Amino acid sequence: MDNDAPISIAVFGLGHVGLTTALGFSDLGWNVIGVESDLAKMKLIQDGQVPFNEYGISDLLAKNLHSGRFSVTADIKEAVCNANILIMCVGTPQDTDGTADISQLQNLARKIGQNITSHKIVVQKSTAPVNTAAKLKEILLSNIQNSKGSNDELVDIVVIPEFLREGNALHDFFNPHRIVIGLDNFDLKDMLGCIYKPLLVKMGKNESEILIYTDISSAEISKHTANAFLATKISFVNMIADLCTKVGADVEDVARSIGMDPRIGSDFLKPGIGFGGSCLPKDLAAFIQVGKINSIDFSFLEEVNKINELRISNYINQVINVLGDLKEKTLGVWGLSFKPGTDDIRDSPAIRIVSELIKLKANLRVHDPYAITAFKEFIGVSDRIYYAESPSDATVGVNAILVLTDWVQYKEEDFKVIRNYVNDPLIFDGRNLFDPDLLTNEGFQYYGIGR
Ligand SMILES: NC(=O)c1ccc[n+]([C@@H]2O[C@H](COP(=O)([O-])OP(=O)(O)OC[C@H]3O[C@@H](n4cnc5c(N)ncnc54)[C@H](O)[C@@H]3O)[C@@H](O)[C@H]2O)c1
Repeated sequence: MDNDAPISIAVFGLGHVGLTTALGFSDLGWNVIGVESDLAKMKLIQDGQVPFNEYGISDLLAKNLHSGRFSVTADIKEAVCNANILIMCVGTPQDTDGTADISQLQNLARKIGQNITSHKIVVQKSTAPVNTAAKLKEILLSNIQNSKGSNDELVDIVVIPEFLREGNALHDFFNPHRIVIGLDNFDLKDMLGCIYKPLLVKMGKNESEILIYTDISSAEISKHTANAFLATKISFVNMIADLCTKVGADVEDVARSIGMDPRIGSDFLKPGIGFGGSCLPKDLAAFIQVGKINSIDFSFLEEVNKINELRISNYINQVINVLGDLKEKTLGVWGLSFKPGTDDIRDSPAIRIVSELIKLKANLRVHDPYAITAFKEFIGVSDRIYYAESPSDATVGVNAILVLTDWVQYKEEDFKVIRNYVNDPLIFDGRNLFDPDLLTNEGFQYYGIGR
């Protein structure tokens, strides 16, 4: 790539990661073309609407469409011709055997390759197993229609894994703890450092405080390792929660006591119905497969997964142990998304629990501040589900309230009022959201996790 050529960026796949990345770079002053193959989604974004719930992103979309620095297309050729840094943010879902399905990346690499006529830096931002970038480079090179010279000189592949959290996506883009850049051509350091320069200036940080340059494999492994470690913390504290339940201790106090040690840290030491979402479960599963492929004993991570899987049945059994057969019992469900701050229900423990409760023929009054539309699409028509207008509406006539997502607004409910709505004053707090004493004082029987 001509080092004096003006930098322009194309981002492929405008989901949570892609749209955030595209708008983030555009807001930092770069010209960005967003490419989305789902035409309905693409048109929505072109019209200034965000197809998912993410704090602050609607305003940033409006601002950057208006400035003219961000444009949207479905045309891969247009984007490849007009940009020199091409960032791939397509999905890498879990395949049936647990491995990462990298077919969206492979298809995209094929199409990008077919349209390359001058040097491009292709960035793999999607989370994918070690060695994926090497496979993508082969696909890119074999699809370039080039009569003169070697294709090798037309493409550099770089891995910049994404660490953002849904619900905090923009905050995380503009305030990263670190940016990992995996590359095999270290001549690109200046160019890549340059696209992050406005961000570093905004943060008041030096390059060395935020940017980590490494080789491609280490960058790929660092993303899987981060998610496997976070999953481990959650399963670890849930294992301790099981012990606390057995002996009558309080896991919240245990978690607090160890979390205050800076060597351990309190983040992700949150007992509950387990981790879910579009990343941790599938990345853990994919990393376990990476261990198998490379003949490394990753059985430790299999245990992490097993502990997490057990959360669903443990929680349902806790409810059955108190209420008995759930057939025709009415349960108020608070929360469906996999965590607060998002409408994402992919691999949400709440959804798995709700699906089991329907199988057990319970009647449900469900509430979620944002995820109802996604849930309706997922679950289809069911005469066992009533969609509540408000958290309190979900509690009318119920035999118990089930807290499945720790939305902060549930904490604002007045349990004196709720006490008059419910049939039976029982609460199964799957996220340890509430203070047990507070609810007991309001006349509720409180059941938390490991306390
Ligand atoms: N969601 C997160 O919180 C998060 C965080 C860190 C990393 N990641 C990783 O980032 C990647 C993307 O995640 P996501 O949640 O944004 O995925 P997503 O599935 O929400 O979005 C991907 C988008 O890519 C589009 N797409 C697919 N093929 C395309 C093509 N050929 N051209 C243009 N668009 C195409 C899809 O239509 C979709 O809109 C995944 O690998 C994921 O594991 C996600």
